[in-house]
Amino acid sequence: MTPPVVEGPADVRARVRAWRAAGECVALVPTMGDLHTGHLALVDAARERADRVVASVFVNPLQFGPGEDYQDYPRRLEDDAARLGEHGADIVFAPTVETLYPRGTDVSVRVHVPAFEDILCGADRPGHFAGVATVVAKLFNIAEPDIAVFGQKDYQQLLLIRRLVADLDFPIDVVGIPTVRERDGVAMSSRNGYMDSEQRRAAPALYAALRGLAARLVHGERDYARMERDACSELEGAGLQPDYVAIRMADDLALPPADAAVDDLRILAAARLGRARLIDNIAPI
Ligand code: PAF
Repeated sequence: MTPPVVEGPADVRARVRAWRAAGECVALVPTMGDLHTGHLALVDAARERADRVVASVFVNPLQFGPGEDYQDYPRRLEDDAARLGEHGADIVFAPTVETLYPRGTDVSVRVHVPAFEDILCGADRPGHFAGVATVVAKLFNIAEPDIAVFGQKDYQQLLLIRRLVADLDFPIDVVGIPTVRERDGVAMSSRNGYMDSEQRRAAPALYAALRGLAARLVHGERDYARMERDACSELEGAGLQPDYVAIRMADDLALPPADAAVDDLRILAAARLGRARLIDNIAPI
């Protein structure tokens, strides 16, 4: 059954407070809609951990830069709400831009997480992570969840949100759920639909490059710069334009020391394929 679709923050807050007053644990799953199996895995994980699940669907203008796909981003609220209901969401919070940013997006307060917002994806998308941190902080204040569930596919985003929660003292447990992949290894993403069939055939090269680096790290190689360069060449050879390939410390994305233990590392990459900007990351083991 399709759950109630709620537009107003006060309505969401009242429902959540009533659940919590009854002793129920509440999980929030923030999304931008256009849901795929990866999003639904987040809802399933929320359902397993909490008595009530709030899913938000909001294409957040603050996290899109000039020339990015804000206008084109697929909006299918009716289908999304039905699928969220099938996976056990109790309500769908779908505010308008005017509701979340009543004084306009240009003058709205921004939440910054300096340690994470200018590196890797943040270097290629200025302002993106401040937009993410701002909307997530607002969603946390509105829904007041006990648990919030995010995908590990957006690994930098996940770490940034953990830091936001720690530094602003949100009493929320942030749960990261493993990436859901297509059969050929491509990480599920709403933006995969931007690829034509030829580009889609090239897309598995990204995950393959990450796995190649993982194997080298497991074998003890630690010349990170060389390995990153090799992976970029491999991606270019497959027709992708890499924004970056990076081997970093898994807990804070710092540059790793030469003697880093393999299980302290994370391999991350972003590459463009036509209109699509693909991102992916894996732990070496
Ligand atoms: O990961 C996303 O879909 C978005 O960045 C999020 C967390 C819903 C914030 O708009």
